[in-house]
Amino acid sequence: MNCTKCKIKAVIKLPRHNAAFCKDCFNGFVHDQVAKAIKSQKMFSKDNRILVAVSGGKDSLALWDILLKMGYKADALYVNLGIGGYSKPSHIKVVRFAETVAAAHGATLHVHTVELDEGAGIRELAMLVHRPTCSTCGTIKRYQFNRAAIEHKYDVMATGHNLDDEAARLLGNVLRWQEEYLDKQAPSLPASVEGFAKKVKPLYRLTERELAAYAVLNRIDYIVEECPMAKGARTLLYKEVLNRLETESPGTKQAFYWGFLDKQSKPEASPTTMAEKDQAALHPCSACGQPTTVEICSYCKLMARAGSAKS
Ligand code: AMP
Ligand code: FES
Ligand code: ZN
Repeated sequence: MNCTKCKIKAVIKLPRHNAAFCKDCFNGFVHDQVAKAIKSQKMFSKDNRILVAVSGGKDSLALWDILLKMGYKADALYVNLGIGGYSKPSHIKVVRFAETVAAAHGATLHVHTVELDEGAGIRELAMLVHRPTCSTCGTIKRYQFNRAAIEHKYDVMATGHNLDDEAARLLGNVLRWQEEYLDKQAPSLPASVEGFAKKVKPLYRLTERELAAYAVLNRIDYIVEECPMAKGARTLLYKEVLNRLETESPGTKQAFYWGFLDKQSKPEASPTTMAEKDQAALHPCSACGQPTTVEICSYCKLMARAGSAKS
């Protein structure tokens, strides 16, 4: 198998593009896909300051690596969740990448430690408020991503969600016709109101397999294990189903998600934009001042419940 572009020996085959690439051409392909995502979804420019949320996994470290190599000003934020056996090794991977690759580009790493700032690790907090660990974790991460971006005056917040993540999420939302969630599934969400950072997903055109290959070929040392709290078994099932369809008929995943984005971008698809809807419903949380649609935001409610359960 030879590289479709330069004809030397290929290292990876991409059936959905009917192509195979050597290492250099594959890196070029990955950078092209990210450049297309940034341009078509108007994510950011070379003048903007970007904050990448990095978990220590392949996707987010690859994203930080790609943005730096493409010449963007990208710093990162790691949230240490205090999950025994998982957070420590992932923290080590993030710091190692920051001190070697990122520092050479002049980029810095911010760290938020849940045990220090929220007073207990994610598992303990979830037990205190009687909520599933993953939803407690989601509330805290979303809040801290936004707070860090606003406090440090970044123009945009980027996460490492890939095509598999987005297609699986879309399948879940469509199966239940959760239209209010469909609205928020764009790879670029504007900073609709003051206090809300713009959020983007520059890897939505690349699959999990392609990002794993990028990380390995570029010697990015990432944490292979998934979080032990097992990300909703459902998402894993949706990913499996989509992978089976993809094997039978390459290109299914991208046709499904990109087709959705095409439809969504038509003006008649959303007469009222999300920014307008948000603008109408949001106001500052009476406890912390971050935007929320209710009196007290879900993060402050969670922390108040955890506090009273402790005392
Ligand atoms: P996940 O929901 O675990 O698939 O993660 C999706 C994205 O959220 C990752 O690609 C990262 O950009 C970000 N992320 C997840 N966990 C963390 C974390 N502990 N610290 C910083 N960013 C994270
Ligand atoms: Fe949040 Fe696992 S519970 S990453
Ligand atoms: Zn609040």
